[in-house]
Amino acid sequence: MRKNRRILVGVTGGIAAYKSPDLVRRLAERGADVRVVMTEAACEFITPLTLQAVSGHPVHRHLLDTDAESGMGHIELARWAELIVIAPATANFIARMVGGKADDLLATLVLASGAEIAVAPAMNLQMWQNEATRKNLDRLRERGVRVIGPAEGGQACGETGPGRMSEPDQIAQELLGDATPKLLADAHVVLTAGPTWEAIDPVRGITNHSSGKMGFALAEAARDFGARVTLVSGPVHLEAPAGVTRIDVISARDMLEAVEAHVGDADLFIGVAAVSDYRPVRSEGSKIKKNDEKMELGLVRNPDILRTVAAMDNPPFTVGFAAETDRIDENAKSKLEDKRIDMIVANDVGGEDGAFGNDHNRATVHHPGGAIPLERHDKYGLSVRILEIAASLWRGESAGLTADPDAS
Ligand code: C5P
Repeated sequence: MRKNRRILVGVTGGIAAYKSPDLVRRLAERGADVRVVMTEAACEFITPLTLQAVSGHPVHRHLLDTDAESGMGHIELARWAELIVIAPATANFIARMVGGKADDLLATLVLASGAEIAVAPAMNLQMWQNEATRKNLDRLRERGVRVIGPAEGGQACGETGPGRMSEPDQIAQELLGDATPKLLADAHVVLTAGPTWEAIDPVRGITNHSSGKMGFALAEAARDFGARVTLVSGPVHLEAPAGVTRIDVISARDMLEAVEAHVGDADLFIGVAAVSDYRPVRSEGSKIKKNDEKMELGLVRNPDILRTVAAMDNPPFTVGFAAETDRIDENAKSKLEDKRIDMIVANDVGGEDGAFGNDHNRATVHHPGGAIPLERHDKYGLSVRILEIAASLWRGESAGLTADPDAS
């Protein structure tokens, strides 16, 4: 994958500016280095601080700003960018682009840069349908500017129709989708994610802190790598990535049943779920009353889903996760051997970078041929690296594996 693509996101003054931080995040999680330029009107809708936080860099706003010019000045910024995407692009900004104006920082950058340019228009449907806007966009297209969207649907002004800015995920996909190698084209990837819930009675149960974020990020990355993805998820508050088949389950036994129903033609199986090792001997049909001072809860072992899949006659390439608090790599290696799986991702669930619920994580991948440390990434970035390794090993290309290029 081509990493660190230098993208400048220009935000102009429309209500859809509230989606711009999400766009910045999605471009960054696909490996882009993102800088943001806002027009004055954009700052009426969203604060520069928000965009600074998601991009990790100060936001550029003024054309003649001595502080900024002594740092990365406007000409430098114009040269730095490989791609400029204006999202949202208002009707007014589009008209200014057509006129070749250089009356604020963003317009100047567009004029001064040799970068590829894309616009994601967002405006009221009458403005969108107006001949002036249509002609302006034709002029931009003639000059090689890429126009993404707009989408149809309800608008902030109460009307329904074309003019809404395309969703950030779609814009990011259109801009960088081509950059994602289809390492898993035609492969079927089955994943488990999230916690399980083992009922004690109708209102109580045994569960854990797994958020499901890592499994969902892996499902999204596997989809971007061209795989058909089946995601078997325990109870989580996450939306499945578009195009992924999601199967919701509650208990470990439900999870095993769903996995067994879908893993038959799988090429890769990735067990990310934090499966409860034990469940109550029996689940009471009605709420247990607190009659006694003491109460004993009998537990029995749950099936090990990953081990079961790895022991199948013709198993897929199996990947496990080892969430540990101590002797992380040692425990992961013995799990790799004990469960007879092909690869295991070891991560630390203790400390400030703990895996559970966090958006960032670091990990080490162990496979029979060695260990590959992965630098701290957000969970999508980490997923991309995990899948790159899994795809190579699955195809029997272990010789080319080296440490994460980002690892220091
Ligand atoms: O043995 P341990 O729970 O530490 O192993 C973790 C790995 O095994 C994870 O990949 C997890 O999804 C999987 N697992 C499983 N079924 C279980 C327990 C763990 O699939 N009952």
